[in-house]
Amino acid sequence: MTDRIRIFDTTLRDGEQSPGVSLNTQEKLDIAKQLQKLGVDIIEAGFPIASQGDFESVKNIAANVKGVTIAGLARASFLDIDRAWEAVKYAEQARIHTFIATSDIHLKHKLRMSREEVLEAAIAAVKHAKQYTADVEFSAEDAFRSELEFLCRVVEAAISAGATTINIPDTVGYATPTEFGEFIRDIRAKVPNVDKAVISVHCHNDLGLAVANSLAAVANGAQQIECTVNGIGERAGNASLEEVVMALYTRNPFYSKTTGIKKEEIYRTSRLVANLTGMRVQSNKAIVGKNAFAHESGIHQDGVLKERSTYEIMNPEMIGLNINNIVLGKHSGRHAIKDRLFELGYNLSDEEINKSFVKFKALADKKKEIKDEDLAAIVENEVLTVPETYKIEYLHYTSGTQVIPTATLRLGKGEEMIEEAACGDGPVDAICNARHRITGITSTLQFYNLQAVTGGKDALGEATVKIQPNGGSKKTYLGRGVSTDVIEATAKAYLNAVNKIVFAQMEGEEHIERPEAGI
Ligand code: KIV
Ligand code: ZN
Repeated sequence: MTDRIRIFDTTLRDGEQSPGVSLNTQEKLDIAKQLQKLGVDIIEAGFPIASQGDFESVKNIAANVKGVTIAGLARASFLDIDRAWEAVKYAEQARIHTFIATSDIHLKHKLRMSREEVLEAAIAAVKHAKQYTADVEFSAEDAFRSELEFLCRVVEAAISAGATTINIPDTVGYATPTEFGEFIRDIRAKVPNVDKAVISVHCHNDLGLAVANSLAAVANGAQQIECTVNGIGERAGNASLEEVVMALYTRNPFYSKTTGIKKEEIYRTSRLVANLTGMRVQSNKAIVGKNAFAHESGIHQDGVLKERSTYEIMNPEMIGLNINNIVLGKHSGRHAIKDRLFELGYNLSDEEINKSFVKFKALADKKKEIKDEDLAAIVENEVLTVPETYKIEYLHYTSGTQVIPTATLRLGKGEEMIEEAACGDGPVDAICNARHRITGITSTLQFYNLQAVTGGKDALGEATVKIQPNGGSKKTYLGRGVSTDVIEATAKAYLNAVNKIVFAQMEGEEHIERPEAGI
């Protein structure tokens, strides 16, 4: 049995099923490229039959991300499998991942199929997929709540039909570590041809046990873990990639297993996924949370200063987070910014570095110390984003207890300057109304969040909005903006989302019916 655990990343498939997450094709490609850099073994790029958008994204990733296996999900149906193949066939190494539920609950209430029918469907699906590629994964959905004898029959038949990976999901996050470990051990013991396939696990986090269950499975012979960056996914999410990887690394003497993950890419990957999905990482989240390496109490600080290992089992540098950097300020030059951006893991073009530097200087005029988080916020929110079709050139707003909130907004669109003024229920509403008049795109706000990037009175405020264009598809667009002025940050976030809508229209991904321009 191998000592190398395969990391199967499903951020773009199960992760994208998180409520409120919807990534566009470019964002998915950016994440896939970063996952390849991170060193995952398999990227599950999506569920091609789910929608045209999903299909295009999987195809785009398969064609453009090399050096990693690209998987497409398909139900145990020929139509699904054909569609998945059409999308993944461009990959250097393509995998079809087909699944059908095996638990009686799913058979009775969802599939309305008998066990024999499920068994036949599983065999037929694997055989059909096998015509296209040698690399076929079969998942027994809701495996953990399935009767063991029947599950083992299905697993054995799927392997005989040609499946090279067998995935055992705890679809509803019901298992506990001891039970799940034993479950994997039993499957290994009862399935005669089990050594002909890689045994994989896929744990959901409904009881907060997804990582613990995945590790228990590894201790009992699982060779692949399916997980997502930051643990995002359906309901309470999936096993978190960074937790699984760092547990296997830090506790290597216990597990004696390795992964191909480049740990120093973990932090950057986590930030990218958080930024593009809009799903913030909670401060106390293991490995990548803001407080994961912070020592607050005097006793702990004293201990760490004397000897790090007193209170640290890992250090931030391992995951690519350098917390002891020199603080940047308004006298820092272009070189210092370029070097720091490189250290933070951004491979930017000269043009992007120049743009980052201009934005950095503007911020340094308002804020004394610029921390890494500030710099990352600038790059991710204002540099590495869709083209700025509309740019804020001038913004003035009035607001208070005795005045009607009013905003004057001037947006640049290429050479053109367009100015509008509007009133609203508050300053943000007034700015939005002025913006609607200029762009002709009206929208419904689905989500709004404002938070300080760092501490202090002069902290950079980061606004996140999610809007849905009126008269368009059901898609939502995430916008981010940063500024020391929270109203300006919000205006920038709105405009960032609008620019994404405009970009999606240009790419033919969004069609908005506009009975009339303006409000
Ligand atoms: O949770 C689950 O069972 C799944 C399968 C499709 C692998 O996501
Ligand atoms: Zn799942």
